[in-house]
Amino acid sequence: MKTRRLNTDTEIPMLGFGTYLISNDKAAQAVAVAIGAGYRHIDTAEGYHNESGVGLGIRQAMESERLSRSDLFVTTKLWPGNQAWGQPAKTTETTVTSLEESLARLGLEYVDLYLIHAPFERAQRLAQWHGLLELKRQGKARAIGVSNFSIQHIEELGAAGLPLPEANQIELHPWSQKPELVRYLNDHSITPIAYSSLVPLSTWRTAPGHDSAKTDRMKWEGEQANNPFKIMAQKHAVTEAQILLRWAIQKGYPVLPKSTDPSRIRTNANLFNFQLDDADMSALEQMDRGEGVAWSSGDPTLAP
Ligand SMILES: NC(=O)c1ccc[n+]([C@@H]2O[C@H](COP(=O)([O-])OP(=O)(O)OC[C@H]3O[C@@H](n4cnc5c(N)ncnc54)[C@H](OP(=O)(O)O)[C@@H]3O)[C@@H](O)[C@H]2O)c1
Repeated sequence: MKTRRLNTDTEIPMLGFGTYLISNDKAAQAVAVAIGAGYRHIDTAEGYHNESGVGLGIRQAMESERLSRSDLFVTTKLWPGNQAWGQPAKTTETTVTSLEESLARLGLEYVDLYLIHAPFERAQRLAQWHGLLELKRQGKARAIGVSNFSIQHIEELGAAGLPLPEANQIELHPWSQKPELVRYLNDHSITPIAYSSLVPLSTWRTAPGHDSAKTDRMKWEGEQANNPFKIMAQKHAVTEAQILLRWAIQKGYPVLPKSTDPSRIRTNANLFNFQLDDADMSALEQMDRGEGVAWSSGDPTLAP
């Protein structure tokens, strides 16, 4: 399994399994299928309300696949709270107890990576980052980072004299490439982790209740015969999803494809036996449309 180094003693697998919008009662089965298919990184969050199902799937798969805890990499995320949405903001202390509660739901003693899910107010970002530093010191998180943070948000942590995050989980795919942010992250040894890699597919979050408000405006006329993803998929005899995921891996971004379909879970994991060539990569480079779509609805119950 290919990995990327996060800190002196932690490496993150390039292939991970996403669990946003998988309900708690379906999560154990999906996670067990994913681990059986070779995924070694599982991504969840307090805000996904599925940590107990995810943890059950992890423990079941460890037994059936004869894996030890150190064979797996588990990420969860602090839901920071947002006063603008009527939620109290987490403090340093409640950040620490939030991970303890996540660990209890997961049935694990530590996570490999703990992230602040999103930046809301400045004071709360700093307080919460202090909490993550404490959790790393206690060994409850082997690595710590952020998600959806801009360069300015990260610079604030440095300006406060604090160590920088080890990862920033952000929406990254050929339609949303964020070159300036990615350059900054790589220059500061902060691993960019790609989420929502499959946004350009016509099938992305089309299940009832899974839609994202801005998506329709972004869509290719998905089924066009000259859709470049389709052409590359034919050329390499893989799926369009594999093209999108392979693009991220060649850019150095760990990926987190989510599916509840066992056959998609398996093909999405098949990323290491073909390679995009320079012409493919430069064609994909031309497709950037700027900002992403995953955080578009503004509805806190749908916030990823
Ligand atoms: N930090 C954050 O703020 C944040 C935000 C968004 C996501 N994430 C993380 O990143 C993960 C992935 O992002 P995501 O869930 O937004 O989207 P994604 O993994 O890019 O795409 C998932 C969507 O694509 C469909 N799909 C999966 N494989 C497919 C295939 N081979 N062919 C066609 N369609 C396929 C899925 O449907 P089926 O399930 O029906 O297959 C689902 O609708 C999340 O689950 C979560 O863990 C984090």
